[in-house]
Amino acid sequence: MAFPVTRLRRLRRTAELRNLVCETRLTPDAFVYPMFVCPGEGVRKAVGSMPGVFNLSVDEAVKEAREVHSLGVPSVILFGLPDKKDEVATGAWAEDGIVQQAARAMKREVPGLLLMGDVCLCEYMSHGHCGIVKSAPQSLGAAVAAPPAVKTDYEIVNDASLELLARTSVSLANAGIDIIAPSDMMDGRVGAIRRALDDAGLINTPILSYAAKFASGYYGPFREAADSAPQFGDRRSYQMDGANIHEAMREIEADIEEGADMIMVKPAMPYLDVIAAARERFELPLAAYQVSGEFAMIEAAAQNGWIERDRVMMESLLSIRRAGASIILTYYAKDAAKLLG
Ligand code: PBG
Ligand code: ZN
Repeated sequence: MAFPVTRLRRLRRTAELRNLVCETRLTPDAFVYPMFVCPGEGVRKAVGSMPGVFNLSVDEAVKEAREVHSLGVPSVILFGLPDKKDEVATGAWAEDGIVQQAARAMKREVPGLLLMGDVCLCEYMSHGHCGIVKSAPQSLGAAVAAPPAVKTDYEIVNDASLELLARTSVSLANAGIDIIAPSDMMDGRVGAIRRALDDAGLINTPILSYAAKFASGYYGPFREAADSAPQFGDRRSYQMDGANIHEAMREIEADIEEGADMIMVKPAMPYLDVIAAARERFELPLAAYQVSGEFAMIEAAAQNGWIERDRVMMESLLSIRRAGASIILTYYAKDAAKLLG
């Protein structure tokens, strides 16, 4: 039945009609708020490229966590800025690591809040890579090496990194982290983490795998927030090539086989097709991470008066939801929850 019988504008005439036929709804239950925890007390250090985002000491992070929870946002994901970095990421798995401290405090003070722990080594390694670095080929066999002189003279060692990731996961879960979220992109890490958690008796701790994580320019502001920029080279030998959607499906499939309970696509808006394809193909809860650069672009344009900030914020989240993500990690969690009120 074509025009003039069919008039699609009939259902757009009033706000009530539009609301009735709305196909995609955002609720704060879907949001996860990322937080950056640092040493000290009373610290609230602004991240220049991310307005409204701070490095928070544990006491301040607890206050923020309370606010997040009171807004109806069910979960936070924690990143740590350790007081020192080394070549074996001690700060990631130490019992008194910064995220471990924050997790204990938040569990005690805001017990209803779901705590996700980002599991990666880059924030804790002096070289800023997500795994163990070995110089190559001269010093192959040497345990670990100082940053190599030439960019191509190194390798991020896969299998040796798994042990540190597994150790980190067990340490975080023991400190009260509810959901383990590995973001390193080493092969086999979900399986290694699942085995380590189970061996430690942590059989009920779920894994949300950053399954399809692309090597992306959109992580720029995060690397300032988490002080995790690689000191040499880049992450292209472990994170995915943005050109590859079939490979993204293989990454997700592998993580599911290894025992992932939930999967993630990251970044979100530049990869909405990957989110949609994953939704179509897999039955697990699907998350998407609206990353720092996505957030910073909207903020910068809004500060210039070029776009309406709140409107674009909600439209961006809606697009991620519509593509098929049921869980959205976003720096807008608090502000969007306030608007949805
Ligand atoms: C650590 C990690 C990164 C992000 C989340 N976990 C940075 C990276 O891989 O370089 C990015 C998050 C963001 O940009 O908001 N591996
Ligand atoms: Zn990393």
